[in-house]
Amino acid sequence: MNELDQLIQAAEADFSAATEPARLEDAKARYLGKDGSLTSLLKGLGKLPADERKTAGAAINAAKARIESALAGRRDALKNAQLEAQLAAEALDVTLPGRGMTAGSLHPVTRSLERIEALFRSIGFDVADGPEIETDWHNFTALNTPENHPARSMHDTFYLLDETGKVREDVLLRTHTSPVQVRAMLAHVQNHQHLETMPELRVICPGRVYRVDSDATHSPMFHQVEGLWIGENVSFADLKGVVADFLRRFFENDDLKVRFRPSFFPFTEPSAEIDVAFMSGALEGRWLEIAGCGMVHPNVLRFGGFDPEKYTGFAFGMGPDRLAMLRYGINDLRLFFEGDLRFLSQFQ
Ligand code: PHE
Repeated sequence: MNELDQLIQAAEADFSAATEPARLEDAKARYLGKDGSLTSLLKGLGKLPADERKTAGAAINAAKARIESALAGRRDALKNAQLEAQLAAEALDVTLPGRGMTAGSLHPVTRSLERIEALFRSIGFDVADGPEIETDWHNFTALNTPENHPARSMHDTFYLLDETGKVREDVLLRTHTSPVQVRAMLAHVQNHQHLETMPELRVICPGRVYRVDSDATHSPMFHQVEGLWIGENVSFADLKGVVADFLRRFFENDDLKVRFRPSFFPFTEPSAEIDVAFMSGALEGRWLEIAGCGMVHPNVLRFGGFDPEKYTGFAFGMGPDRLAMLRYGINDLRLFFEGDLRFLSQFQ
C-alpha cells in the first residue's frame, strides 16, 4: 500500500473516531489544514523532477478529494446524530393522560354579596356604588360629623399623603359605605328634579372599606353593605321589618332571632345596633352583632338635597364578611383575605 492510501485510511479512521464536531474539525486540520499532511505533500511537489510532478500531483489531488468526501460524510453523520438526540430528549408523549382542568369558583365573600344583592333587588332596591378613595366631606361632614367632632375618632382612618409626604385633609380611604348614602341621595334628587313628586329612593351599596385594625375578627380592609330607603312615610317599623326579613332569608332560617339595641351614630337618630341569635348549632343562643342602623338624621337628608320636613328614611350598614363567617362557620376573618387555595377551594 502506498503512502497516499495509508494517509486516506488514517484520515478515515480519525474522522470516524471523532464523536463530536469540534474533534472532527481538529482531525480535519491534521490532514487538510495549513500544516496538514496532505498540504505538505502538495507543497513538496515543486521539489520533484518535472516528469514525475504531473502524476504525483494528480494522485495527491485524488487522495485529497477522498479525504474531503470522508470528512463531509462524517460531518453529516454527526449532525444527524445530534438532531436524533435532541428529538429524543424533547419527545412528547401524546398518549399521556391530561392533567385536567379545574373550574375556578367565586370567593365566599363575593357569593355572600351576590346573595345579599339578589335578596334586596327582590324587594325593589337598586345597587349603587361609590369611590373607595373618598372625600372627607362625603365620609364625615355630610354625615353630620363636622370637623373636630369626637365621633370622627370612632373610626381609625387611613389618610393619604401628598407629594411632600404631608397628610391630605381632603381625601381618605372610606371608613364605611355610608358616604354612598349622600352620593345616592344627591344623584336621586338630581335625576328627578323635573318631576312633581319624587319616587322613593331604595338602594344598597356593597363595597370595600378600610380601617386601621387587624385581629381575628378585624381586617384593615373589609366589606360593608349600606342600605338606604327614603320616602314620605318611611318608619323605624319598616327598618325592622326589612332587616329582619332579609336576615331570615339570607340564613334560610325562620327561627333566627333579631334584636335592635339602642346605639349612637352621628348620621342616624335614633340609632341602633342589630344583633342576631341562632336557635340551633354551635352558636345557639349567642347574640352576634352584624349591623348598625337608624333613621336618617335630618342634617344628612338636608346635605343629600331632601327636605327633612317632607321625607324620612332609614339606613343600615351591615358586615357581609361577618354574615359569610356565620353562614359558612368560619372563625377567623383573615382567612378570607389570605388567598390560600386550601381554604378557598372548599367553596367550589
Ligand atoms: N356606617 C356605620 C359603621 O360603619 C354603620 C351604619 C350605617 C350605621 C348606616 C347607621 C346607619 O359603623
